[in-house]
Amino acid sequence: MGSRMGTKRKIILAGNWKMNKTSIEAIDLANALNRELGDVQEVDVVICPAYTALSEVHEVLTDSNIRLGAQDLHWENAGAFTGEVSALMLKSVGVEYVIIGHSERRQYFGETNDSVNKKLKAALKNGLLPIVCVGENLKEREAGKTFAVVQNHCEGSLAGLTPDELRQVVLAYEPVWAIGTGKTATPAQAQEVHQFIRGLLGKMFSADAAAGVRIQYGGSVTPENIAELIAGEDIDGALVGGASLKGESFVKIVKHCCGILK
Ligand code: PGA
Repeated sequence: MGSRMGTKRKIILAGNWKMNKTSIEAIDLANALNRELGDVQEVDVVICPAYTALSEVHEVLTDSNIRLGAQDLHWENAGAFTGEVSALMLKSVGVEYVIIGHSERRQYFGETNDSVNKKLKAALKNGLLPIVCVGENLKEREAGKTFAVVQNHCEGSLAGLTPDELRQVVLAYEPVWAIGTGKTATPAQAQEVHQFIRGLLGKMFSADAAAGVRIQYGGSVTPENIAELIAGEDIDGALVGGASLKGESFVKIVKHCCGILK
């Protein structure tokens, strides 16, 4: 396995809080994280609370290095789309990053490459930094279709972008079978797919743009396995679900990536 030493890609760790935490709980967790990580500069740290807590968590993060992210958006800026939230609305409460195409949205809410692509373009147009998720499920992995599925997700989700736009995108490779299951891809399995994605982006865009894109790994990331995952040459961070809901474990994950914890 190679090492990230020598790449110019800054590690990015994002906590995906999913449908967890009331406003008060979210404020508490954001305060706890801010105390420990508010000054961190070695890596980028993003937290993604539910829509209902964004505004209050933004207040907590005033003067903090921790950035605010949302978990989804709609591709239009306004209109008759009951229940949806737009890029403009997210920006108005201090959101800078947005997760797009998470497997739970693909699986339970009919998200497709096409809708991911529209959302991605809306995010970029409005100056939000997208975290675009791709990854195969267990059946697909067992059928030997991992690369085909990941390629399909990348090609469909990123269609029509320019190399310059690609540079603003963070990709998250999340094998669906590893999400919330406690089953992590081995560092070698993760690195293999990350390397494949970077090669594919090189062909789709340019070698230079591909070399600069940050690719996170996601799926049962913990303080115990982050160090060996992040050692992968093409693994530039993590999208963390369960372990981001407890201040202590997310702080440890970030500190491992800063080299503070070994
Ligand atoms: P997990 O979730 O860390 O709980 O597996 C990751 C994700 O879904 O982004």
